[in-house]
Amino acid sequence: MKVLVIGSGGREHAIAWKLKQSKHVTELYAIPGNPGMDAVCIPGSVEDMPFILKTVEEKGIDLTVIGPEVPLCMGLADYLEERGHKVFGPRKESAILEGSKAFSKDFMKKHNIPTAKYEEVTDYESAVKALDAFDLPVVVKADGLAAGKGVVICETKEQAKEELKVMLDGSAFGDAGKKVVLEEFLTGFECSLLCFVDHDTIVPMVSAKDHKQIYDNNEGPNTGGMGTVSPNPFLPEGMEGTFKEKILDPFMKGLHEDHMDYRGVVFIGLMIKDQDVKVLEFNVRFGDPETQVILMRLESDLYEVMYGCATNTLKDVDVKWKDEQATCVVLASGGYPGSYEKGKVITGLDHLPEDIVVFHAGTKRNENNEIVTNGGRVLNVCALGHDLEETRKKVYDAIENIHFDGMYMRKDIGLH
Ligand code: AMP
Ligand code: GLY
Repeated sequence: MKVLVIGSGGREHAIAWKLKQSKHVTELYAIPGNPGMDAVCIPGSVEDMPFILKTVEEKGIDLTVIGPEVPLCMGLADYLEERGHKVFGPRKESAILEGSKAFSKDFMKKHNIPTAKYEEVTDYESAVKALDAFDLPVVVKADGLAAGKGVVICETKEQAKEELKVMLDGSAFGDAGKKVVLEEFLTGFECSLLCFVDHDTIVPMVSAKDHKQIYDNNEGPNTGGMGTVSPNPFLPEGMEGTFKEKILDPFMKGLHEDHMDYRGVVFIGLMIKDQDVKVLEFNVRFGDPETQVILMRLESDLYEVMYGCATNTLKDVDVKWKDEQATCVVLASGGYPGSYEKGKVITGLDHLPEDIVVFHAGTKRNENNEIVTNGGRVLNVCALGHDLEETRKKVYDAIENIHFDGMYMRKDIGLH
């Protein structure tokens, strides 16, 4: 089988790495891919639908796997499927669960999925009025896609008003902020619950914990994610039944009632407190860097699972996991998530222990064929082991070998 992966980050590298191990996959392509991938990387944009279609047809691709949310929200799955091609990734009508926070909150309310109290606003005056009903801190969220930066937790009403102003007038996030969701602030611990989905079946993956803030002890601004562990060490035993009853069953019922065609992965961001579970958000794609630790623990053949989702035969696939612990530490460019320099030569990747897996997140080859930094999050260093202590040690020891100018990482990934 010939498979095409759309995207270029650590998430897509992890997907490509796992697909490469499939007994079914004979040829693996990526648009645009990255230099770490053992795949044929074809330069091009993930948003260039005609080019992607042309590639699928020329190469005779059997399955296209769409990594990032932007092409999903643009309707890339619809575009390829309507032309007879198999796709892993939800259609536009379902991708809006990530593309619009207001849509997603309304979906949760309508289908009794527990979530924070909220109010949608589109003009500043009514927004300020609506603010009165919320205690502090209050969460202000741009409705549309904002590359992970559209959520601001405001400690004062003045700060909330300022955020509302710059979101609603378009200066903060353009059209993505023209509608805003005001939300009650929830406390507890967060858990990333990713699930494979097709029309009839939802299969939860093993749990993961992200570390979103840039500095140790969860301080500083949010990033796309600085490291992950799986399983989530905070998650008490036996929550599966609660997840199914309170979230997964109503989610599937909601998709059916609203006639939403969903085949791919749903990433459910959860806030959990004393067995009480609420949904923070839905993402319509794999998490990054959750995918890196989750797919390292997948025992089954990823192609079979993805093909099952794409063809509504997921119920026939036995999705099995390794009873091991996985840790991923992100190596970032100094300055991220603010501005940072690119083009720094990366050394040491050839001198790592065999049981370390490095996924490339933001790299490229320079004119001398050296691997250089090309993004905020640069590398994901990962290991599997018996427990968190062992994998943390393996990963941080391995990182001692890797160098690039300005390299930054959190030192507390996986510490409670
Ligand atoms: P979202 O993109 O909606 O998941 O928000 C990004 C991050 O903001 C989440 O992972 C949480 O850390 C935080 N967050 C979002 N909504 C809330 C909320 N209602 N209460 C507390 N924290 C939140
Ligand atoms: N790691 C969080 C996300 O992928 O949205």
